[in-house]
Amino acid sequence: MSTRAPGPRAERLQAVKGMVDLLPPDSRRLVEIERVCHDLLGRYGYALVETPTVEYTPLFARSIGEETDIVEKEMYTFEDRDGRSLTLRPEGTAGVVRAYNEHAIHGIEPVTLWYYLGPMFRHERGQRGRYRQFHQLGVEALGVAEPGIDAEMMAMLLALLAQLGLARDAMELHINTLGCSVCRPSFRAALLRFLEPHEPELCEDCQRRFRQNPLRVLDCKEEGCRRIAGEAPTTLDHLCPACRTHWEGLLGDLGTLEVPCEVDHRLVRGLDYYNRTTFELLCTAGSLGAQNTLAGGGRYDGLVELLGGPPTPAVGFAMGLERLLLALGDLPPLAPRAEVCLVTQGAEARRLALPLARELRARGVRADVDHRGTSLKSQMKRADRLGCAIVLLLGESEVTRGVVGLRRMATSEQEEIPLAEVVGRAVERLRR
Ligand code: HAM
Repeated sequence: MSTRAPGPRAERLQAVKGMVDLLPPDSRRLVEIERVCHDLLGRYGYALVETPTVEYTPLFARSIGEETDIVEKEMYTFEDRDGRSLTLRPEGTAGVVRAYNEHAIHGIEPVTLWYYLGPMFRHERGQRGRYRQFHQLGVEALGVAEPGIDAEMMAMLLALLAQLGLARDAMELHINTLGCSVCRPSFRAALLRFLEPHEPELCEDCQRRFRQNPLRVLDCKEEGCRRIAGEAPTTLDHLCPACRTHWEGLLGDLGTLEVPCEVDHRLVRGLDYYNRTTFELLCTAGSLGAQNTLAGGGRYDGLVELLGGPPTPAVGFAMGLERLLLALGDLPPLAPRAEVCLVTQGAEARRLALPLARELRARGVRADVDHRGTSLKSQMKRADRLGCAIVLLLGESEVTRGVVGLRRMATSEQEEIPLAEVVGRAVERLRR
């Protein structure tokens, strides 16, 4: 017993602003989502990688770009005890490419297919679907320049979402091309010429940075900038022959795979490492609200080299898992928490129930024992809430006679089974 004198009521502590707790049933659904990801990505040949949650700050500044929103105002950056600047990763691609180079993977395999699942951190203004800590599934393919892999990646994203239960007509895939270092300068110059007379109408951020990076204006979410961006010249008019071949190849491969998509010339994405293909998946299902971009990605053929590796083409995307949970919100719940509930009356019944539950679990069944010793009625109520298919009832009379009542919840049918046979019968009934 504590000997401390009772003090004033302790202050109730709260989670960090903009960060959320992921509790059941959402956390259970996340496990299910991750299981589907491991399974489907495995079928496409992708392997899981885990890179650290913190990296040295220059990695992000160099990869994502100094003049991006993420690097300018959203990173969680701090000094560690050795005085080096560290940053909580705002995204996963930079760390993956750092690891690819650090372990010289290019010398081990010509094509590297990796994915990751984990938390990312951005100090953004919080709202539904936008958090300061969020989780991503990220997928990266390194070593392939051909557009076939871009198309296959988009088809894979749609297949993943379909397998998770999202309706096809709730998903919109937008694609664009940004050209490359050969053709981007002429597009950039044309964009600058177009934007200059509109300067006073641009938002503060865009006014400040459009001369260094006019593409940022195309990506800006402010209404005024969006209106201007709608009239801006497009990359398609400036593509070099190699980028045009890639773009046409991509459209062809998307057609072959029957991937429906819309070309969106404003889709430049908020990170600087992209070239050629960019894409985003928008979703109209569930309660996503304004933050309805479920996934985004594209090519980053220059990033491996920029971070000190050999020239290596690459493409990837990431999907926000909290947004996915919001999108899936309307769908029926997953598998019930328990398939079989053991409802007992009295100490002897509870003693018999424990090994029965253990045996059921060993045979792959989700089994629950109500340890509280409350009334049969309240235990039955809880069993119903857990969504179980079968209740095994051990009342005083059943214990005396060495039987168990097996009740099927859907039909309310009940039969008596000898104690020694009940696990086998329950499994049989469940799997039927
Ligand atoms: P991103 O567009 O910055 O791309 O993020 C990808 C997805 O992460 C978004 O579509 C969204 O679902 C989710 N997300 C981003 N910020 C938040 C937030 N504050 N709260 C909740 N969800 C958020 C990337 O991160 C790139 N690394 C994708 C990539 C991989 N490109 C090539 N490979």
